[in-house]
Amino acid sequence: MYVRSLCLRNFRNYENEKLTFDPGVNIICGGNGMGKTNALEAVYYFSQGRGLRGGGREALKYGCQEGKINLSFSSGEREYEGEIRFEGKTKKIFLNEIELKKTSQLIGRFVCVLFTPDEMNLVKGSPEVRRRFVDSSIIPLRPAYLSALMTYNLVLKQKSSLLRREDYKLLPVFNQQLAEIGARIIHTRRSYIDSVKDIAAQVQLDISAGRERLELSYAASVKPESTREETVAAFLRKLDEMEESEKENKICFVGPHRDDILFKINDKSARSYASQGQQRSIVLCLKAAQTELILKETGESPVMLLDDIMSELDKFRRDFLREKISGKQVIITCTEPENSNIKEYNNVIKIENGKAIGRGE
Ligand SMILES: Nc1ncnc2c1ncn2[C@@H]1O[C@H](COP(=O)(O)OP(=O)(O)OP(=O)(O)O)[C@@H](O)[C@H]1O
Ligand SMILES: [Mg+2]
Repeated sequence: MYVRSLCLRNFRNYENEKLTFDPGVNIICGGNGMGKTNALEAVYYFSQGRGLRGGGREALKYGCQEGKINLSFSSGEREYEGEIRFEGKTKKIFLNEIELKKTSQLIGRFVCVLFTPDEMNLVKGSPEVRRRFVDSSIIPLRPAYLSALMTYNLVLKQKSSLLRREDYKLLPVFNQQLAEIGARIIHTRRSYIDSVKDIAAQVQLDISAGRERLELSYAASVKPESTREETVAAFLRKLDEMEESEKENKICFVGPHRDDILFKINDKSARSYASQGQQRSIVLCLKAAQTELILKETGESPVMLLDDIMSELDKFRRDFLREKISGKQVIITCTEPENSNIKEYNNVIKIENGKAIGRGE
């Protein structure tokens, strides 16, 4: 996977800018608040059809009604021109000039793995942070999963509103839908966690010189059974058990929106005991595992987007990460190129107030 160029038009703090990239290591540098993360976010948009922060409207430059981002990239032998247009509240996605009907049609074309300081609260943050992490890792590998999540959330919203209104006529219909789509989500999450956990554990052993054994487990709100039909049945039973309580509290208590992912280091809960450095390592291990999994399943290395994280890592972990990124295209942001801790970079783009100086045009 290789990004050639990115054009930004009224996106965040950019008015009209083009950035070009090399196949190896690219550095985007500049002071705080200049637009480095915004540029990475624009690239990331093409992997999920959405940004890092907020729902979409905030992508447009303040006061603008229209804007767009264009990404030229190659995947295997194929060349792609992606375009995302922001028009007021709506967003349109084009690939090689053809408009995509659904965001899910974009998924899997451009694949990247993003490392951001925001994710460092993965271990100690709320379960929602961990669910989002797992979901956004699954989406590029299983495009249909995004549609399942969206449908699930829609039905969940309808059920919540029905509970609030105390109007239970359609409750069995919604519950049936939640159980069916929910079971799909649960099975996909389980199989993802199963395939990532051994790779992540091996990486954690490497990174800690054999001292730290990482265990990942899936704490599902409805435990997945061996078949999806059985999980649907278990889901419905649990909904039944909880029905009175859901009505009383007007809250949907059952389903994958209540799932969590647990991490243990040497048999101790990471959430309660892991140090800052260990928490960071867990995130690094998961990302490294994700990169390997993508390569294994698609035959291609994802583009690595590293947002200002090298300076936060100790030398051992930096060396480790450096080894993981070799041979891949990498886009790194940092305040000073010297701070990137990468010596062999091909291309430096300096950003000042949404303007590119250097390899921008
Ligand atoms: N929709 C928008 N329109 C205009 N400006 C915006 C918009 N959204 C964000 N900004 C501005 O973009 C600026 C740069 O944001 P960005 O997160 O890219 O900075 P950065 O270079 O990564 O900084 P840091 O080094 O602090 O991480 C901020 O000053 C923010 O106010
Ligand atoms: Mg930033």
